Amino acid sequence: MNTFDEVVKLATKRGFVFNASSIYGGLRSSYDYGPLGTLLKRNIADMWWSSIVTKHNNIYPIDTAVIQSSEVWEASGHLREFSDPLVECNHCNKRYRQDSMVEIICDTPECKKKDKSFSEPKEFNLMFETYMGPVKEKGNEVYLRPETAQGIYINFSNVLRSTRTKIPFGIANIGKSFRNEITPGQFIFRTREFEQMELEFFCYQSDEQQWFDFWVKERLDWYSIIGINKDNLRLRKHENQELAHYAKSTTDIEYKYPWGWGELEGISNRGTFDLDAHMKSSGEDLTYFNEENNEKIIPSVIEPAGGLTRTFFAILLDAYSQEEVNGEVRTVLKLNKYLSPIQVAILPLSKKEPLVKIADEINSYLISDYSTEIDVTQSIGKRYRRQDEIGTPYCITIDFDSLEDQMVTIRDRDTMDQERVAISDVSEVLKEKYNS
Ligand code: GAP
Repeated sequence: MNTFDEVVKLATKRGFVFNASSIYGGLRSSYDYGPLGTLLKRNIADMWWSSIVTKHNNIYPIDTAVIQSSEVWEASGHLREFSDPLVECNHCNKRYRQDSMVEIICDTPECKKKDKSFSEPKEFNLMFETYMGPVKEKGNEVYLRPETAQGIYINFSNVLRSTRTKIPFGIANIGKSFRNEITPGQFIFRTREFEQMELEFFCYQSDEQQWFDFWVKERLDWYSIIGINKDNLRLRKHENQELAHYAKSTTDIEYKYPWGWGELEGISNRGTFDLDAHMKSSGEDLTYFNEENNEKIIPSVIEPAGGLTRTFFAILLDAYSQEEVNGEVRTVLKLNKYLSPIQVAILPLSKKEPLVKIADEINSYLISDYSTEIDVTQSIGKRYRRQDEIGTPYCITIDFDSLEDQMVTIRDRDTMDQERVAISDVSEVLKEKYNS
């Protein structure tokens, strides 16, 4: 088995990610996040939030609607331009995204024709369409947002007015986006429903390049801060022909997935494209008044646009490791300890009352600072194995000696070192470990 298959298997077995609608056979490319996955996803989002919103006084959060007026997508160009070239096999009618085909060949087993028997490419719009209200008729169409960014642009003047801020400043949005991808796949890498973490940073046009360089560096650094190996990250500048319709320039942060390099996040210079478009289309004044020279301007925008669910997958792949210990294979998720869904596992050696009582007591004073779990089932070896597999950095073991000496053992996930610590010092010792 390769890393991809092993990580997908572990993610399902341990409750990170489940195929959506699995009791009905599963819905292709749709996923539910299980108990551990929900915690991990939230921790990633929190680390993004603290690096973008909390650490910058001039970056404001926003939380915008998935469904906006259709005029938003008309103005932004998504109704016209947000499409992929689609080709259809003339034998079995299977559809492919033309630009992602490595070989001109249909891969269905009954078909596998090596001739170029495909339809002419046609542009397929990726937005999910639905209807608002009880009547399904023309004029009532609405769209599920394909990016969180537009919610920011259309609130530009609301935020400016309500915060009385000055440029440069940013607005950050995090949430679900939807794209009717022609070829979703590679587990949660490309799905039709996914989560984005986007920042639109408004600045003077003369400072565009400076802020672009700043955000590329800042975002690249963030991926290694959250634990992704630097060797598996790289920057790639877009060629002119691959730029999105709104972008003047884009640099992707790419991750080395098991199948090759792929996008994690795109940092784009969107110039004044979106504010210009919404100002023209809505008739609203979306300018910024520069008090220094009494001029009204449209600010330029630098956009670091990341994928939360895609980052989640890269983190699992990167943290996954197998090593031999005493002739046995140990599987460990070497997650950044702030990302781990369970940060401290409390493991009494027996299910009996006195040991469980100590476990409950330790849990009661750790639970407000850490995500904890008490596990009393199976042998201690199996419990360590499970905690290693889900990336728990520290296990606290309570044994029968604990009843006598009031001490417990703290085991480190990565080194497997065990340290005997007084129960009264556990909190302090863990704090040191977390701060080191
Ligand atoms: N607002 C700009 C924008 O949306 P994008 O490069 O299309 O740019 C940003 O998307 C990020 O969203 C990507 O780098 C990727 O991480 C994530 N993303 C895009 N499409 C996705 C999909 N179908 N499934 C999972 N993540 C996706």
